[in-house]
Amino acid sequence: MRKLFALIATAMLLLPGVSHADEGMWIPMLLGRNQAAMQKAGMHITAQDIYDINNASLKDAVLLFGGGCTGEFVSDEGLVLTNHHCGYSYIVKHSTVEHDYLTNGFWAMTREQEIPCPGLTVTRLVYMQDVTKEVLAGVEDGMSESDREKVIDKNIKAVGEKAIEGTHYRYVIKPFYYGNQYFMYVNEVFTDVRLVGAPPSNIGKFGGDTDNWMWPRHTGDFSMFRVYTADNKPADFSKDNTTYRPLKHLEISLNGVEEGDFTFVFGYPGTTRRYVTHDYVDLAANVENPVRIELRTIRLDHYNDAMRKSAAQRLKYASKVASIANGWKKWQGESLGIERLHGVEQKIEQEEQFRKWAANKPQYRDVLDQMEDNYAKLREVSLEWTYFSEAVLASDFMNRAMRLWRILRNADETLAEKMLDDSRKYFEDFDQHSPVDEAIFVETFIYMWERGFAPYMNLKHSTDSELEATLKKIYAKSALNNPKKLEKLLTMKREKMLKAITDDPAVDLFTQAYNYCYSDKKREQYTTANDNIQRLMRIYIKGMMEQYPDSNFFPDANLTLRVTYGHVEGFKPKDATYFTAYSTIDGIMEKENPDVYDYRVEPRLKELWKKKDYGHYANKKGELPVAFIATNHTTGGNSGSPVLNADGQLVGINFDRCWEGTMSDLLFDPAYCRNISLDIRYCLFIIDKYAGAHHLIDEMTLVQK
Ligand code: ARG
Ligand code: ASP
Repeated sequence: MRKLFALIATAMLLLPGVSHADEGMWIPMLLGRNQAAMQKAGMHITAQDIYDINNASLKDAVLLFGGGCTGEFVSDEGLVLTNHHCGYSYIVKHSTVEHDYLTNGFWAMTREQEIPCPGLTVTRLVYMQDVTKEVLAGVEDGMSESDREKVIDKNIKAVGEKAIEGTHYRYVIKPFYYGNQYFMYVNEVFTDVRLVGAPPSNIGKFGGDTDNWMWPRHTGDFSMFRVYTADNKPADFSKDNTTYRPLKHLEISLNGVEEGDFTFVFGYPGTTRRYVTHDYVDLAANVENPVRIELRTIRLDHYNDAMRKSAAQRLKYASKVASIANGWKKWQGESLGIERLHGVEQKIEQEEQFRKWAANKPQYRDVLDQMEDNYAKLREVSLEWTYFSEAVLASDFMNRAMRLWRILRNADETLAEKMLDDSRKYFEDFDQHSPVDEAIFVETFIYMWERGFAPYMNLKHSTDSELEATLKKIYAKSALNNPKKLEKLLTMKREKMLKAITDDPAVDLFTQAYNYCYSDKKREQYTTANDNIQRLMRIYIKGMMEQYPDSNFFPDANLTLRVTYGHVEGFKPKDATYFTAYSTIDGIMEKENPDVYDYRVEPRLKELWKKKDYGHYANKKGELPVAFIATNHTTGGNSGSPVLNADGQLVGINFDRCWEGTMSDLLFDPAYCRNISLDIRYCLFIIDKYAGAHHLIDEMTLVQK
């Protein structure tokens, strides 16, 4: 009875369309539709101040940073702010044990000291356009999916190329609402981006993976870059390039935010799946997440042990562990959140409503039955994909075996050369016999085998310890862990090389695993089911929009620029506990623990704290705020996004979500879903008071009421 009551209570939150103010990731070009609601929620500016193609607007200051984060211009000399974890791999790349920028921080005190980051791009949206009509021209109802795709691909190319003709722009055209609508993005992509500053890890990543996805948080998660151009246009790195003068850079407010204040987040959310059916939710929460979590626990335990042992090992594994741990923890929160919300039952309930509504509508009547049939097919093979990526490819050893295997399957003769090159580099960083990698390889394969997922290994073993011995033998015998042998192999004449690769025990094992997980039959089953589901979703969501004509349906995130808005607000994560909306530097000192790497405090930071030397970065109470939470609906990719106040001024940098709300990619619950932002005042305090990089503050536009 109690459970039923909870179900009914939450059903209110989970109507297919948006039923409460804070959910939604809105399209900047169509923001006029949200303007009244945003102003009612407290915004002082207009939709046009945010997105305008005729005049400089806030969108000109917002950037796709790399391939999966957001950044923003904060000076008229191309200075970019983003998260520390977004700049992380570039900071790591430039770090050595002698010049350890990751651990100690990095501040370019002159332009000459700024470090080029080849491969890093930032992208500015020039304009966007609804191209649905053009893209769907020639598409007919009864068409097969593959014919449909062909027509669409052709149209996309024609529309896109015409749009950028004679310019230095690039285009992207993406489907919205599962292909019911298409938008084109015409972009300017900058390729000379240099590292300007990053705080030491014990500020930029304070709390590490322990605090990741959690509130209260005290992470100074920011780093700085600068865009260089030739004639103010994108150009590859050159000493002669000059700093970019953006059309718009953000003003920074020193006034901060208080509980209840309006904020909006402007950035590039990656992926959400708001409209999927109960099968998807069940598969993710109850089938795939648990396996992924267990397999990643195995890897993390080994890496963390190694990292505790030396600084060199810590640098070696830092980037890898950050990314493994990130998914690992998020999936745990996601599964719990779905369970708490009775996510699967909620979806079933919604689907029942849809079935009733669609009973007399031939175009929609069968869509959910068909969806279920296809999910049943998908379910039979979906774990293969999870095992392949999370277990077979868990070790460097098997990843490198895959590269050898590719040489077998691909006529491209340069693959061997590239692998030789990369292997030399690999052995500069990693031992030829890495006990960590070997243990991960052995344990993940045993894990699969124990669960009946590696029947191809049944032939040779009956017990775990026999299997362990065989796996270790494979590890020892393969050329992959012997630089000399590998060098010899990769420089052989083609025929001989192919034979040697085929005979390598690691390649043999990889091939068996691949053929098992990706047999033609399974692949066919998976792809067919998946294609059908995509097609059915296109119909289903169209139907839901007709079913609830008064409801707002925001398009799922797809790494295009979006606006989400909400307000600063604490929350109640569990009984008898309330989280307030902001954290302060005092909390850093509370968490300090010199014995735990993630909780060491920089002596200089402590000194500033003791003297309360906060300058104008303190709040009205004299505290130095570090981070705050709000009800903005965000997801992966929103990291680094500007968090703006009612006047469109920068008050924070988005970097995370609260753990209790990480199911928000599938189900949004305003009681639990909070984004976490770095308070811009803490960021400025670190640049100014901690690092003494006053020249960077001087080029920004600070405002105070
Ligand atoms: N959870 C944040 C996001 O999804 C931050 C990740 C980086 N930090 C970390 N400790 N691994 O990107
Ligand atoms: N930390 C995420 C990111 O890197 C943001 C999130 O998932 O909330 O984009």
